[in-house]
Amino acid sequence: IEHRHNKRKILMQMLGVDIGGSGIKGCLVDTETGELIGERHRIATPQPATPAAVAHTLKALVEHFQWKGPVGCGFPATIHNGIAKNASNIDKSWIETDAAHLFADVTGLPCHVLNDADAAGLAEMRFGTGQDRQGVIILITVGTGIGTAVFVNGQLLPNTELGHLMLEGMVAEHYCSDAVRKREDLSWGRWGKRFNKYLARLEFLFSPDLFILGGGSAAKLDKFIDKIETRAPLVAAANLNQAGIIGAALYGAARQGG
Ligand code: BGC
Repeated sequence: IEHRHNKRKILMQMLGVDIGGSGIKGCLVDTETGELIGERHRIATPQPATPAAVAHTLKALVEHFQWKGPVGCGFPATIHNGIAKNASNIDKSWIETDAAHLFADVTGLPCHVLNDADAAGLAEMRFGTGQDRQGVIILITVGTGIGTAVFVNGQLLPNTELGHLMLEGMVAEHYCSDAVRKREDLSWGRWGKRFNKYLARLEFLFSPDLFILGGGSAAKLDKFIDKIETRAPLVAAANLNQAGIIGAALYGAARQGG
């Protein structure tokens, strides 16, 4: 009984990792409750963020947690069967790199990789703002780039790259990402007006029932919510910036059959 109990405990825990343009963050996650176990750890993303450099940083993160189990990893690109297909905010050498295999080789652990926004979306639909919600839900993560996760009645349509829609003659993430807000020193109000245009475009194309905002900007929603005029409400992700880590762990657990 003791042995069975331990095994169950191990399956419930997973190392979730969120690989971003500026930081690589990880935490142990209880995949049954969605709660973080212990402290989150962050290591700055190596520059240039080549596959080898990122894989070694991931190894350092795994070693920090002395983790010996499978790993779920959110990655800021389209990930098709473990392979990165584009590279907007990471080194171009990622394109066609088998991230899942590379990470497994370097860490010696099974690694399950998915798009970072899809990871955040999975967490929000299971434990957060999207819990038990039907209809069309679009989660948007605003950070270095803009990532999206689209759900229909709780089912993910993976790898939507709606941060790359054209807006005002520009790729949307070059117009209203958080990196742009900082670079152009935009007030929250001015940035909010831009973001409202982006949401209006998404609303025209997809008629969602709900927008969920993830990434760093989610904690600042009150600073620009007065600029948002969409019919579908915009609400902050319940897990704010941690959703990517939690969702990556959920994905890892699902892939392990846990
Ligand atoms: C990438 C997406 C990613 C998003 C957020 C975009 O530039 O193309 O795959 O989800 O940034 O990191």
